[in-house]
Amino acid sequence: MQKSLYSLPTRFGLDFFSVCSTETYNRARYLKIKVDIRNFLYTLFSGRLMENKELALVTGGAGFVGYHIVLALLQRGYKVRVLDNFSRSCNNVKVLVEKGLIELIKGDIKNLDVVKKSMNGVSYVFHEAAVCINRCKEFPMEAVEVNLIGSMNIFQAAISNGVKKIIFASTSSVYGQPEYLPMDEKHPTNCITPYESSKLCAEHMLRFFMQNAKTKWIILRYFNVYGNKQSTDAYYTSVINSFIKKVLKGEAPVINGTGEQSMDFTHVSQVVEANMAALDSEISGEVFNVASGKETTVKQIAELILQLMSSDMKPTFVKREVLVTRRRADISKLKSILGVVPKVSIEEGLKMLVEDVKKNPDAY
Ligand SMILES: NC(=O)c1ccc[n+]([C@@H]2O[C@H](COP(=O)([O-])OP(=O)(O)OC[C@H]3O[C@@H](n4cnc5c(N)ncnc54)[C@H](O)[C@@H]3O)[C@@H](O)[C@H]2O)c1
Repeated sequence: MQKSLYSLPTRFGLDFFSVCSTETYNRARYLKIKVDIRNFLYTLFSGRLMENKELALVTGGAGFVGYHIVLALLQRGYKVRVLDNFSRSCNNVKVLVEKGLIELIKGDIKNLDVVKKSMNGVSYVFHEAAVCINRCKEFPMEAVEVNLIGSMNIFQAAISNGVKKIIFASTSSVYGQPEYLPMDEKHPTNCITPYESSKLCAEHMLRFFMQNAKTKWIILRYFNVYGNKQSTDAYYTSVINSFIKKVLKGEAPVINGTGEQSMDFTHVSQVVEANMAALDSEISGEVFNVASGKETTVKQIAELILQLMSSDMKPTFVKREVLVTRRRADISKLKSILGVVPKVSIEEGLKMLVEDVKKNPDAY
């Protein structure tokens, strides 16, 4: 079945599915990500992507989550433009650009002129570009310049260009230390770090700009996202990639602290599904947790990875300050309003990731 898909010709001189890894394609099918069936079948039988849909801009589209959103949009027949300064990504979208499947603007969201240019003809914005948590800690000014002012550039330019909807990638980090679990969207925002503060301020600025605007907007607060194509220096979720890499090299995973710190690990396919549901939805002005709703400790992750990789090694523990001790999201709003339910357990997600790392070790 898949072989025949790979051989489909297209007007782009490339079969769409050959630009997705086998794992991505299988996963999309397996997880029943909400694809537009009509467009999907059109692509399948004609070997062409439908081009009658509108233009979507993905900022940070060369990064981890952005890349997966780009793939989902292409599968649904949208035209896609990526704005990225490649400050962090390993150019996930290179093949897509080379084959003419997407348009790339190499530029910085701090630059308002570039942002305005990137908004031309755009109907939907997925704002993913951001400076990550550990870099923000080291260079707090970048948190303000990119995550806040850069985001303000995106919001303002989107409104003045008549963009229909903005979907903003925020973070569970805005909650800070948990006061209760599971954390719902009304949980207090106890921001401490520059990353958390910059993301929360950006949320507030989005609300402010949208007061009298026609543009619809949705904020998605992602909890620890993991999956293939993730940068190995991602702060929290990097534990997964770094553990897998260590075990591949025959070394034991190294755990900071006791390993009892927990996270709500969320497979990237669910984050994509939430973005597509937000795109389809008529609602506006809402904030959603995007998470699995399950708590997994770092120690459990290490043990699972060792088990999946058939290793009899034991994790080693080192003393280090741990920023957040526990995380578990309340995802009832995500389920009831956007209809997104977790489909990939941590065991399944890790299994897929381990297979991908084994197949493409150089990508990690
Ligand atoms: N991955 C997670 O676990 C997680 C959790 C919560 C929230 N988020 C949020 O989700 C979004 C995507 O995260 P990710 O994991 O894909 O990150 P990522 O670092 O893989 O991707 C971010 C992309 O933004 C680009 N970028 C950075 N600064 C830029 C600038 N000034 N101008 C243009 N492009 C710029 C980078 O080059 C990179 O391609 C971010 O906004 C992040 O804050 C991620």
